[in-house]
Amino acid sequence: MTTIAIYSNKGGVGKTAAAVNLAYLAAQSGALTLLCDLDAQGSSTFYFRVRPGIKRKARGLTKKSKQLGDSIKSTDFDSLDLLPADFSHRNLDVAYAEKKNPTARLTKTLEPLRGEYDHILLDCPPTINLLAENVFAAADVIVVPLIPTTLSLMAHRQLLDFLAANGYKNSRVYAFFSMVDGRKKMHRELIAQARGDYEHVLDAAIPYLSHVEQMGVYRAPVGVFAASSPAAAAYEQLWQELHAAIAP
Ligand SMILES: Nc1ncnc2c1ncn2[C@@H]1O[C@H](COP(=O)(O)OP(=O)(O)O)[C@@H](O)[C@H]1O
Ligand SMILES: [Mg+2]
Repeated sequence: MTTIAIYSNKGGVGKTAAAVNLAYLAAQSGALTLLCDLDAQGSSTFYFRVRPGIKRKARGLTKKSKQLGDSIKSTDFDSLDLLPADFSHRNLDVAYAEKKNPTARLTKTLEPLRGEYDHILLDCPPTINLLAENVFAAADVIVVPLIPTTLSLMAHRQLLDFLAANGYKNSRVYAFFSMVDGRKKMHRELIAQARGDYEHVLDAAIPYLSHVEQMGVYRAPVGVFAASSPAAAAYEQLWQELHAAIAP
């Protein structure tokens, strides 16, 4: 079982779009897959047409791991389950802070699920707080979407420094470029620079494409409503490359 966090300390970079499409592709390949929506905004929950668990206070990630199984929903797709966003996730870092071993809570919560799934994907909110530290501890690999801007690359440097300073291995980090406009010289230059600076930047990149935006209209992964589109092909390439990179 591999736990894959789709994480960035920046918002709006394509984390949720990647998490939804990668989880779908993993499941399509026959792997039993669970996508955990750790962002209280519930975007991946929305894309999979699952109702967020707002009313059910007794559930969610703050509760005992035994109860977690009750919160998991099946999706419309074979082999793909979802742990919906729970409104209580907005306070997850506060809840964790009150516990023993506060950075190991998520690892512990996910522990009983390790035997049940081939892949667990975590769609993360854009914060570096206690929840993020729980994610870094629980994930086997951290996959970071980078948009080709100077600020996004600066944020990535900060993330790598944070991980190193806190004893997390940078070797578990993979980055890919997201929202790329190949016509822009600056995009091409920044991507070339990052590939020179970092070994962990994957070859696959996700272009800026309206089919990705339309996920919000169709409420589905791009492979479902635009199977032969460049967007579907880009996520397929990303999944293939990532899958090969994380294979034991
Ligand atoms: N490759 C892309 N091309 C065009 N729009 C994109 C792309 N990736 C994401 N978007 C759009 O940008 C917005 C933010 O993407 P999202 O995946 O929710 O980012 P995050 O989870 O990092 O906040 C969404 O409206 C999404 O539809
Ligand atoms: Mg998101």
